[in-house]
Amino acid sequence: MFLVFIIIYLRTSSGFLLSTENRISTRNITCWNGSSSTLLFNCEACLVIARNYEIRTSLSLTGSGPLGITYQCLNVNQVEAYHENLVRECQNFPRGTLNGYDDFCIASPYSKLRGSYRACMCTINACNYNYTECVQRSSPYWNRQAPLFSNTIVQLTNRVKCFRPYEDYKQSTFSSLTQLCPSNDNECKNFLFDNGVLCWISVDRTNYITRQTLPPSIYVSHLIKYKAMLCRSFTWTSKSIYFSQCQEDETVCMCAIDGCDQDLETCQKSKAIHIYYYYYYYYSFFLILFYLY
Ligand SMILES: *[C@@H]1O[C@H](CO)[C@@H](O)[C@H](O)[C@H]1NC(C)=O
Ligand SMILES: *[C@@H]1O[C@H](CO)[C@@H](O)[C@H](O)[C@H]1NC(C)=O
Ligand SMILES: *[C@@H]1O[C@H](CO)[C@@H](O)[C@H](O)[C@H]1NC(C)=O
Repeated sequence: MFLVFIIIYLRTSSGFLLSTENRISTRNITCWNGSSSTLLFNCEACLVIARNYEIRTSLSLTGSGPLGITYQCLNVNQVEAYHENLVRECQNFPRGTLNGYDDFCIASPYSKLRGSYRACMCTINACNYNYTECVQRSSPYWNRQAPLFSNTIVQLTNRVKCFRPYEDYKQSTFSSLTQLCPSNDNECKNFLFDNGVLCWISVDRTNYITRQTLPPSIYVSHLIKYKAMLCRSFTWTSKSIYFSQCQEDETVCMCAIDGCDQDLETCQKSKAIHIYYYYYYYYSFFLILFYLY
């Protein structure tokens, strides 16, 4: 006798959010704002970044900035976005903790020459005095109980093809969506088109539509900004998140399926269908798993 069991299992997913709650502050430390100048209070983590030249790009939170050293006090709404940015742009920045450093991070991956930098993040008082100091203070010697860090936003890695945003781009007065690439920078535009992980569509109060493709380094920052600060309500599917009651009466949707930013409805309804087929043959003992996406 030959028995076959087939189990079909439909997975429901909570979309891009690992937690629907906003992050809650877990520490209150001080950070330097410029070495030996002033201390800033109410920080969640401190950051120090060293650049050998000025880097101008909207594609990086941590990479962009003047020549020299910059210092930052990250608050509870910034810490995940900055951490994720470093994990994505640096060679070996640790994922599971806020304490870390990396000597080789790249702000604009399409052109290494345009943007390599060093960055260090640490979580004890005044630990970002300079880069060396920060590297020491983020090590296990100083920070034995190195707190584990967990994300509230899913790590998106699959490339998604969004509508090219710049064919007829015009900055809307009522939209918080800003242009990521200068109009004449085709290298930047092509990089975005080929490396997007999230599509974004925004409709302002005059019904003007703007679109943007978000790369791995900054999509978390945009998602958290809308979720925690700019909008009062959101709904989601497995592949989209739809924000309403936003500042300036803007409606914003972000999605991760090719072409899902065609219009707001398409974006809002974007769903992944996960169907798992398990075939179990009683005699031959093998298992086949189909993953329909
Ligand atoms: C940090 O220092 C800069 C000048 O170096 C100053 O412009 C800025 O306002 C300071 N930030 C805060 C939050 O004090
Ligand atoms: C954080 O600490 C400072 C003093 O170091 C204090 O003034 C401030 O109220 C504290 N903030 C919170 C949210 O506890
Ligand atoms: C960093 O700061 C320490 C003091 O905390 C100092 O001894 C060291 O010389 C500084 N390093 C650099 C490169 O400025």
